[in-house]
Amino acid sequence: MPNAIPQHVAVIMDGNGRWAKKQGLLRIQGHEVGVQRVEEIIKAAQEKGVRYLTLYAFSKENWRRPKEEVEFLMGLLSVYLDKKIKELIKNNCVFNVIGEMGDLGATLQKKLTEAMEASRNNTGLVVTLALSYSSRREILRACQKIADEVSRGEIKSSEITEEIFSRSLYTADMPDPELLIRTSGEMRISNFLLWQISYAELYITPKFWPEFTRDEFEKALEDYKGRERRFGDTCPVKVSNSSNGTRAANGGRT
Ligand code: FPP
Repeated sequence: MPNAIPQHVAVIMDGNGRWAKKQGLLRIQGHEVGVQRVEEIIKAAQEKGVRYLTLYAFSKENWRRPKEEVEFLMGLLSVYLDKKIKELIKNNCVFNVIGEMGDLGATLQKKLTEAMEASRNNTGLVVTLALSYSSRREILRACQKIADEVSRGEIKSSEITEEIFSRSLYTADMPDPELLIRTSGEMRISNFLLWQISYAELYITPKFWPEFTRDEFEKALEDYKGRERRFGDTCPVKVSNSSNGTRAANGGRT
């Protein structure tokens, strides 16, 4: 039986702008409060025993936003790295980035790389930020990588398996998310982890991201506990407190 606490929780953090508007604030103020929620949810995930937390912080499509907003978001990330990353590393977290890091400014890239390096030997919660991320681009990139291996004769096309494909994605070393949370009530996946969430449970809350407190996160985990997971089979697998239910990365499906 799967564990009651999902190993990997992925989150589409949405609604900063709408929340700010509702409060009579500027959109950027919504993003500022959004960062506080990021910190809170990282702590909550750690305490609850989640092993991987993947946060959709900036999509490839988000570059189309007004220049001032993009610059503000990049600035927020930079300040976050300056002020908070030491604490994250001290708390035994591994810091990780998925997405096209090359799209980001040189200084930001350097800070992200340093944070990843500094946390590499930690053993606690793996916090992954998706930055300039597009799942379709990730899948294409994996196809190109495998096609190159085929053309070099390293593998036959008939030998390509789901496992090999998974290992060519940015998330190569992670298990698939068992739970995907989306805030602000939108019923969309928005080009996030399309391959990896094939069997994930979806939790969509009307709360805007700045309202998504620890209590809301705990509610999502509670809701997950009550789910019956089928993995395409006919007999449901009840999510339980059993500790022997951990499924291997992408494995265990029948
Ligand atoms: C969605 O709200 C949120 C984003 C595009 C950015 C998410 C980023 C943060 C919470 C800050 C991340 C920073 C760090 C340091 C991890 P929206 O602007 O799309 O809101 P709307 O849909 O209401 O307009």
